[in-house]
Amino acid sequence: MGEDRIQRVSLRARVMDADRAAALIAPAATVAMSGFTGAGHPKAVPQALARRIEASHAAGTPFKINLFTGASTAPELDGALAHADGIALRLPFQSDPEARRRINAGQMEYLDMHLSHLPQEVWFGFHNAIDVAVVEVAAIFEDGSLLPTTSVGNNKTWLDLGQRIILEVNAWQPLELQGLHDIYYGTALPPQRQPIPLIHGDDRIGQPTLRCDPERIAAIVLTDAPDRSNRFDPIDDDCRRIAGHLIEFLRHEVARGRLPATLLPIQSGVGNIPNAVLAGLAQAGFHDLGAFTEVIQDGMLDLLEAGVLRYASATGFNFSPQAEARFRDRLGSLRNRIVLRSLGISNHPELIRRLGCICMNGMLEADIYGNVNSTHVMGSSIMNGIGGSGDFARNGFLSIFMSRSTARGGSISTLVPMVSHVDHCEHDVAVLVTEQGLADLRGLSPKQRARQIIARCAHPDYRDALRDYFDRACRDSRGKHTPHLLREALSWHQRWLETGTMRTP
Ligand code: COA
Repeated sequence: MGEDRIQRVSLRARVMDADRAAALIAPAATVAMSGFTGAGHPKAVPQALARRIEASHAAGTPFKINLFTGASTAPELDGALAHADGIALRLPFQSDPEARRRINAGQMEYLDMHLSHLPQEVWFGFHNAIDVAVVEVAAIFEDGSLLPTTSVGNNKTWLDLGQRIILEVNAWQPLELQGLHDIYYGTALPPQRQPIPLIHGDDRIGQPTLRCDPERIAAIVLTDAPDRSNRFDPIDDDCRRIAGHLIEFLRHEVARGRLPATLLPIQSGVGNIPNAVLAGLAQAGFHDLGAFTEVIQDGMLDLLEAGVLRYASATGFNFSPQAEARFRDRLGSLRNRIVLRSLGISNHPELIRRLGCICMNGMLEADIYGNVNSTHVMGSSIMNGIGGSGDFARNGFLSIFMSRSTARGGSISTLVPMVSHVDHCEHDVAVLVTEQGLADLRGLSPKQRARQIIARCAHPDYRDALRDYFDRACRDSRGKHTPHLLREALSWHQRWLETGTMRTP
C-alpha cells in the first residue's frame, strides 16, 4: 500500500510499521510534528507513541515527550497523546478538548505563542533541539525531495533541524497537490537576513517540494488516513449581522478612497463567524479579491469557486467533508490560484505589512478601551491559543476583531470594563464588531473609544452597566487618561465565577 509513492527506491528499505517507528522516539524527547488546523498531521506514529506511553504507565516507568507542531492537530495526535498523559510541554497552539482539560487542570505545560515566532525561535536556539521530526508527506521523489500534503506549517524547519526524521507517506493525500506549494529557502538568521522577495500575495518565490537529507530518515510509515474535517454551524442571524456590519464598513472604506475596489488581501481566522463573513463577501458584489491568510476554509473555497477571490495564499486547509470533496474535484483548476507556504512566510510580519492585509479574527472578549482577549476564559482557563491572530493584527492594514456581544446564554457580556487577559492590546485593534454594530476605533483616544464601543457593540442588557462603570471611572479614577476603578474592573468576571452571570442582581 503506497510504497510506489517512494520513488527513491533505496529508501523503501526504511519502511516499517508505526509501532517500530514510534519506538525510535526516546523518553523525554522533543518531537516536532507536521500538522496545521487538522490538516497534514501524521496519523499513525502519534497513536503508536501514545500506546507506548500508556504501556510505560502500566509498567510503572512513565515517560512524556515535548511536542511542537505548526498549530492544532487532531484526536489521533493531540487527543491520543493527551489521553495517554504523554505530553510534558506543548507548543505553539492546540485546540484539543482533552489537552485543554489537562492544561487547565495544571497537568500539562503549554506555551501559547504567536505562530510566526516558533520556527525562527527554534532556529535562534531559544527552544529544545528537535530530537525527532515526524512529518506527513504525499510522496518521496527520486531526488529525495518531498511532496507536502494539505498543510506546510513548520515542516521545512522540522526537516532541516530534526536530528532524526520519521516520514508518514499518506496515500489518502492526492498526488495532484503537486505544484500547489511554494517552499521558500531564502530565510537566514540576523544579521544575514535579506528582504523576502514577495511583492504580490500570489507570488511564488520558492520551490514546490520540501528538501530532506535522506541520511537522517530513520523510518518511513505508510498510511491511508484522512485529515480531520471541520463542521461549520449553519449561519445564524447574529453571524449574518456581524457580516453585514463588516461589509458595510468595507464598502464605506472603498467609497472614501481608503481601500481599492478590489480591497486589499484578506486574512480570516477560522470559526463560524469568520466563515459567515466570507459567505457575506460572496454576496457583496466585490470581485478580484486576494487572500493572504493562514488557513483556507469552506468560505474561501466558495469565494474562489465563485470567482470573487482571484487567489488564496495560506499555510493549510481546514474543510468540511463537503468542501473537501469539492476541493478534490476541482483541484486541477484551482491549483494555480492556491498557494500553500511555510508558516514563517504565510504569517510573516514583513509581508503582512507590505501587502496591507485586512485582518479579521474572532475574540472572546474586548474591554471598553479596545484591548482584546482571544484566549483565556475568565482570565485563567485557556480556550485555544493566540494562533496567528497576533501576527496579522499587529501588522495588518486593518485589524478587525469580532464576536457576539454575549456568550453562554447571555450570562457573559463579551464587552467588559477590563479584559481578564490581554492578547491584542488597544494599539493593535482598529475595529470591533458584534451583531449590535461596529466600532471604528481608528484615531480615537481611550475615552472616545470607550464611548464608541459601549454605544455600538455592547448588548442592550449590559450597555447601561458599562456606561455606569465608565462614568464613575471618569469621575473617580486617579488618572483621567484611561479611567478605571481598579477594585471593580474585574468584578464582572468574579461575579460570573460566583453566581454564573455577569448581570447585577
Ligand atoms: N467568555 C467565555 N466563553 C466565551 C466567551 C467569553 N467572553 N466568548 C465566547 N465564549 C465561548 C462560547 O460560548 C463558545 O463556547 P462553546 O464552544 O462551549 O460553545 C466558544 O467560546 C467559542 O465561541 P464562538 O462564539 O463559537 O466563536 P468562535 O468559534 O469564532 O471562536 C475564539 C472564538 C476566540 C475562541 C477563536 O476565534 C479563537 O480561538 N481565536 C484565537 C486564535 C485565532 O484567532 N486564530 C486565527 C488566526 S489566523
